[in-house]
Amino acid sequence: MLFFVDTANLDHIREATELGILDGVTTNPSLMAKEGISGVEPVLNHYRKICEIVGPGRDVSAEVISTDYEGMVQEGKKLAQLHENIVVKVPMTRDGVKAIAHFTELGIKTNCTLVFSAGQAILAAKAGATYLSPFIGRIDDMSWDGIELIKEIVEIYTLQDFDTSILAASIRSPLHIVQCAKAGADVVTCPLSAITGLFYHPLTDIGLAKFLADHKKANS
Ligand code: E4P
Repeated sequence: MLFFVDTANLDHIREATELGILDGVTTNPSLMAKEGISGVEPVLNHYRKICEIVGPGRDVSAEVISTDYEGMVQEGKKLAQLHENIVVKVPMTRDGVKAIAHFTELGIKTNCTLVFSAGQAILAAKAGATYLSPFIGRIDDMSWDGIELIKEIVEIYTLQDFDTSILAASIRSPLHIVQCAKAGADVVTCPLSAITGLFYHPLTDIGLAKFLADHKKANS
């Protein structure tokens, strides 16, 4: 399972890269706005910076703002030309699916975002999306079960032999990451805090303190 960090914060991206376990980055317009990035050139520049930080071979999802087919295609092509790491993120709409099919023909990688059902997952796979982003946290927020959706899509994609990678998004906790791994997600994209939360176990801290104390006693 690949680990992506879901942020436009350069410090978080640097920290995740330095951990040595990062495979990519996803962003969205809300995350860019949270960092105070606005305007066409500053946004494009920010994507370039992210790509430089993560280095070669790590996919960076950059989302289109247009909602019509022509606009998405024009915007997506511009984003794809920015850097070889860029994956064009496209919303799950009629025009979005059409744009994904066009990008597939052009060999441009895509991430179909805002996915909340198995039916939508089938459409994105048929269009040849590279990644599919089901938003599990937002489903849980409505008291439905986001992990159940991941399991359902894994079952369908396996049965149908679809090539699209399931990128579990809208992750809220370390437990979500473990549940996604068990459900068979190909990728998880998470805030840095959810990834670093995986490190913690009190028995690790207690065990390490005891090892160091015993070593000190024996060597004093
Ligand atoms: C996915 O690509 C989105 O950027 C993200 O995971 C959405 O998460 P949220 O529901 O926490 O906003």
